Amino acid sequence: MVKRDLLTLKDYTADEIKLLIDDAILLKNLRRRGKSILPYLSGLNVAMIFEKPSTRTRASFTVAVEELGAFPISYSAQELQLSRGEPVKDVARVLSRYHHAIAARVFSHKDLVELAQFSSVPVINLLSDLYHPLQALADYMTIKEKKGKIEGVKVAFIGDGQDNVFNSLAIAGVKLGAKVRVASPKQYAPTPQVLGEDVYSKIEIFEDPEDAVKDVDIVYTDVFVSMGQEKEREERMKVFLPKYQVNVDLLRKIGRDDYVIMHCLPAHRGEEITDEAIESRHSLVFDQAENRLHTSKAVLLYLLNPLWR
Ligand code: CP
Ligand code: NVA
Repeated sequence: MVKRDLLTLKDYTADEIKLLIDDAILLKNLRRRGKSILPYLSGLNVAMIFEKPSTRTRASFTVAVEELGAFPISYSAQELQLSRGEPVKDVARVLSRYHHAIAARVFSHKDLVELAQFSSVPVINLLSDLYHPLQALADYMTIKEKKGKIEGVKVAFIGDGQDNVFNSLAIAGVKLGAKVRVASPKQYAPTPQVLGEDVYSKIEIFEDPEDAVKDVDIVYTDVFVSMGQEKEREERMKVFLPKYQVNVDLLRKIGRDDYVIMHCLPAHRGEEITDEAIESRHSLVFDQAENRLHTSKAVLLYLLNPLWR
């Protein structure tokens, strides 16, 4: 079997993304019915490397590996010789002699690309500075469950237009036929280099959040200061607040009541979103978080045992 990685959904076709979402829905159902899926990855073991903190990704991916019958091993970067300067290409070749897949959360997407290049087993992106593909899969699964479809749904992302979660939301959204809008300050607007010209040319870019949210189905936001950007906090806050906060005033501008609010979490209440908005009946944030488990399973099966069905 030729090894396949998941570094960004740019490398996946619309049909593949749809299959992953449908598989995740099926796996969610099997779990609800108490059906065991232990045999599918039985005897395998999966490495996870974390250069940054994580709650959802670490927990959901670990449980996904375990429920598929495989063994998860989590390494913080500090525990590995990586932190003492061992080259990524050596770590890749060594770990792939032991593990059947390597999943990693990294500061620099370039390291993930190098890891995949030198690893003989699949490499899965658990978040990099550029992309968060597992999050986008869970997000569109949630949209499919709640809205019954993905094609044609209007989603407005408010905040940092160069954010990793937004990039993956846009890439998957365009492939799946969603109408993706983004409102961000000029200096944080999306770029064709990261999204790809094909995706960039199909999204609608706004500076004013009130214009972007008009008549949308979904309002999505993420933190203004991502992990690794802590030194930029002060200048970012000046630019993003108060204009780009998802609050009741902004939500009123949608002009309808059947909208949903999404956030990958963790949220910084009082910054990108208010407590009132995230706790409202429109919020899907905990369904998104749950769906990280089911989509992670779908990805693991797709890469390690695609004939499982
Ligand atoms: N959404 C997400 O990836 O959360 P964690 O940083 O907690 O893993
Ligand atoms: N953009 C955020 C997402 C966290 C899940 C970050 O990179 O910190």
